[in-house]
Amino acid sequence: EWTMKGFRNEAIAKIREQVGKGRVICGLSGGVDSSVAAVLIHEAIGDQLTCVFVDHGLLRKGEGEEVVRLFRDHYNIPLIHNDASDLFLGKLAGVSDPETKRKIIGGLFIDVFEAEAKKIGGAEFLAQGTLYPDVIESISFSGGPSVTIKSHHNVGGLPARMNMKLVEPLRELFKDEVRMLGRELGLPESLVGRHPFPGPGLAIRIPGDITRDKLDLLREVDAVYLDEIRRSGLYDQIWQAFAVLLPVRTVGVMGDGRTYDQACALRAVTSTDGMTADYYPFPHDFLGRVATRIINEVRGINRVTYDITSKPPGTIEWE
Ligand code: XMP
Repeated sequence: EWTMKGFRNEAIAKIREQVGKGRVICGLSGGVDSSVAAVLIHEAIGDQLTCVFVDHGLLRKGEGEEVVRLFRDHYNIPLIHNDASDLFLGKLAGVSDPETKRKIIGGLFIDVFEAEAKKIGGAEFLAQGTLYPDVIESISFSGGPSVTIKSHHNVGGLPARMNMKLVEPLRELFKDEVRMLGRELGLPESLVGRHPFPGPGLAIRIPGDITRDKLDLLREVDAVYLDEIRRSGLYDQIWQAFAVLLPVRTVGVMGDGRTYDQACALRAVTSTDGMTADYYPFPHDFLGRVATRIINEVRGINRVTYDITSKPPGTIEWE
């Protein structure tokens, strides 16, 4: 009989066999997949594993600190925290094209990761939280028509360039199974149940160029939106929910004054693997409440819209 406990033990044995006495580095994003992979590998080989967390300055509110706290303090897993926000935001300044943003971020991520790997004296193995749908997607992409919808930011370019062997203990699992494995490993529910978050982060939720001010504004909107979703008990019914900062200013009225501030869009979808998705049918009173809160609590936003596009024809992210 197949059990998650059995899978865990087998995976640990396989990792030990593959890695031997070698050193492994693992890129942590703060998401479920890389976190589960890291904890599993740490159980298998202990301090032969070093995790690297590259903070590109495009994370949500409080996210960087949370990752560091969990891994360094709670799990005692060796973790390098590279705050590379100046580098990333500097190179992204003035860039509006979505694919250019993605390529800049992907390239810089490799540079920073590579430099950190050198600093620890190199490693033979690179660990990734690749899931089964990722494997399928890349196979069908290479065999299918050569249309790139988006250059997904992951470390696909990394192994070849760094000449490393891959450790991918989650390759046979779907997202819900990774969550089960995370629970089996005792990871906190706040992490295991977390919505997916794209590698390029908030950069692809700000159409147009990216500035620190826009990022700060978006972080505040996103935090209010997610807080309201959690309070309403809807978080676990939703695959992903986030805010998008629109490059549009609109006229409004607050008290007895005129406002001329930015508009934002809210997005929430249901999905099983991210390949297709339906917009989430929030009750209207929820939408009204969250719009009121955002406009009252976030200075600089005076209009809130809800995105009701499914995938296809939309994609989940806006860029
Ligand atoms: P789209 O926008 O393509 O997104 O419908 C599908 C799922 O993938 C996530 N996503 C990414 N994840 N690197 C990632 O690790 C990326 O570059 C990336 N782009 C999109 C997106 O958040 C959604 O869950």
